[in-house]
Amino acid sequence: MAEVISRNIGPIILLGPPGAGKGTQAKRIAERYGIPQVSTGDILRENVQRGTELGMQARSIMARGDLVPDYLVCDMVALRLRNADCKRGFILDGFPRTPAQAGWLDAFLEHEFFDNAPRSKCLPIVIRIDVDYNKLLRRITGRRSCPVCGRIYNVYSQPPRVADRCDVDGSSLVTREDDREEVIRDRLAAYELQTKPVAEYYARKGRLVSVDGDLPVNEVTEQIFRVIEGQRGVTAGTTDG
Ligand code: AP5
Repeated sequence: MAEVISRNIGPIILLGPPGAGKGTQAKRIAERYGIPQVSTGDILRENVQRGTELGMQARSIMARGDLVPDYLVCDMVALRLRNADCKRGFILDGFPRTPAQAGWLDAFLEHEFFDNAPRSKCLPIVIRIDVDYNKLLRRITGRRSCPVCGRIYNVYSQPPRVADRCDVDGSSLVTREDDREEVIRDRLAAYELQTKPVAEYYARKGRLVSVDGDLPVNEVTEQIFRVIEGQRGVTAGTTDG
């Protein structure tokens, strides 16, 4: 059973600290509305793995938990958002992460997405997933993911059916290189210093909505769907196949 809708959803931005559940929720939004998840962390990791020039520049920065320079990330996002699959909408997971990236995104959307669509449909829906700071470390150290399909697990809260194996394709689950405790502290520090002001940027524009990310995954998803459907005036229909 695939869930689809045909109307434009526009941009959706997920904010929140490392381990808040952005990737987990982005996948569910993508499935419900048939729009792509654009995760800057995933694209950067893919570049590191492939050994591209961008990957070589990003590798050591990511390994120590710092942010990759704005100009590199913005160029990468521009390239991705120009793909045809983003025309009905997309979910930004991990971007924008600095006020400069947020300003860049506003300008980009203004020039490239407002041409043929009503403006109200293209202003981003900005959702911040709030989680108690003390839970983040356990969530991140317990995270495992499938290197093939990208599904995210947690050894404490969302374990796979068979230990260390993906439920979907049976691949061996992996732990991210930057999910080591000493790096996590630096990632959280980068969030406090550089990314928290992004929420303030959107709050000033009256666009920020917060959801309670301490709740179980399904309940967080329900809150997010309510926000999206409330703001866009759409509901997801279902269809077989
Ligand atoms: P990125 O990959 O974006 O990582 P992050 O922001 O640190 O976020 P995470 O992926 O760690 O967490 P998440 O919120 O997606 O949580 P998840 O759903 O996995 O960035 C990595 C690096 O890339 C950065 O440090 C930086 O160097 C670079 N980078 C990326 N974007 C950049 C940018 N724009 N500018 C500059 N540099 C950039 O969930 C976590 C765990 O919790 C999972 O195990 C999950 O199963 C579990 N979980 C989820 N929800 C719940 C729940 N409700 N209850 C219980 N458990 C839950």
